[in-house]
Amino acid sequence: MTDFLRLAEEIAREAGEMLLAKRPTMSREVETKSSPTDVVTALDKASEALIRERIAAARPGDRILGEEQGEAPGESDVRWIVDPIDGTVNFLYGLPDWAVSIAVEVAGEIVAGVVNVPARGEVYTAARGEGAFLGGERLHCNTGVPLEQALIGTGFGYAKARRQVQGEVVAKVLPRVRDIRRGGSCAIDICSVAAGRLDGYYERGVNKWDFAAAGLVATESGARIGGLHGAPISPEFALCAAPGLFEDLHDLLASLDPLRDA
Ligand code: IPD
Ligand code: CA
Ligand code: CA
Repeated sequence: MTDFLRLAEEIAREAGEMLLAKRPTMSREVETKSSPTDVVTALDKASEALIRERIAAARPGDRILGEEQGEAPGESDVRWIVDPIDGTVNFLYGLPDWAVSIAVEVAGEIVAGVVNVPARGEVYTAARGEGAFLGGERLHCNTGVPLEQALIGTGFGYAKARRQVQGEVVAKVLPRVRDIRRGGSCAIDICSVAAGRLDGYYERGVNKWDFAAAGLVATESGARIGGLHGAPISPEFALCAAPGLFEDLHDLLASLDPLRDA
C-alpha cells in the first residue's frame, strides 16, 4: 500500500509541476465536451498522457481509468483512477483550486489516494488504514457540528436541466446551514472536509475519478462518505461529513428530491 501511495504521489507531483509550468502559456487551448461550459484544455490531455505513461512504465499491466481517455479492458485487479485536472474551469481562469487526483484500487477497494493542489503547494494523501495527511500533518474532520452551524461545499454539473434542480436544492439548503461554498473541484471539496475546512459536502453527478482519491482521504480522516438512502457514493449522489452531520444533511437533502432533472 505504501508503495502504491509513494508512486501515486510521485506521479501526481510530476503532473502538477508540468501543469504549473505550462499553464501561463497553454491553458487557453480549449475544446468543449458534454455542454458549452464543459471544457477540456490541451493540458488536461497532456496531464493524463503523462500520468498514464508513468504508471505503465512502473506497473505494466495495471488497468487505468482516466477522465479523458476512459479505460482499456485488462485482466489485472489493480486499477488506477485518474482525474488529470479536477477543477478545469478554475485552472482556465487562474484560480488556485484545481488538483491532480490519483487513486489506486485493488480488487474493487481504494487502497491509496493522492490529491495534489499545485497552485497552493498542498498534497493530500491517504493509505487505507493508515490515516489521511496534508503534508506531514494528520487530518481529522470536524465533529459535533450541528447542521445549522455547518459550512457545506457543493458543486453543479454542466447540463442546464440538472443545474436548474441543483439551484433549487441549494436554495432550500442555504437557510438551514451556516453557509455554502462552491469551490470548483470535487476532489478538493472532499479533502476540505477531511481537513476541517468544510464541515460537509454534497453533489449530484460527480464521477469516480472526482471522488476516488479524496474519498479515501475523507474516510481516513474520520468522515463518512456515501450516497442517498444507504447507497454507496456513486455518480448518482455524493455526500460527505462527519457521522451525525452526515445523517442530518442526508435527511435534509433526501427530502428535497435532488435526483430529478428539470
Ligand atoms: C468538475 C469539478 C466540479 C464539479 C463538477 C466536476 P472537472 O470536474 O469537480 O467541482 O462540480 O461536477 O465535473 O470537469 O473540473 O474535472
Ligand atoms: Ca473532475
Ligand atoms: Ca477533469
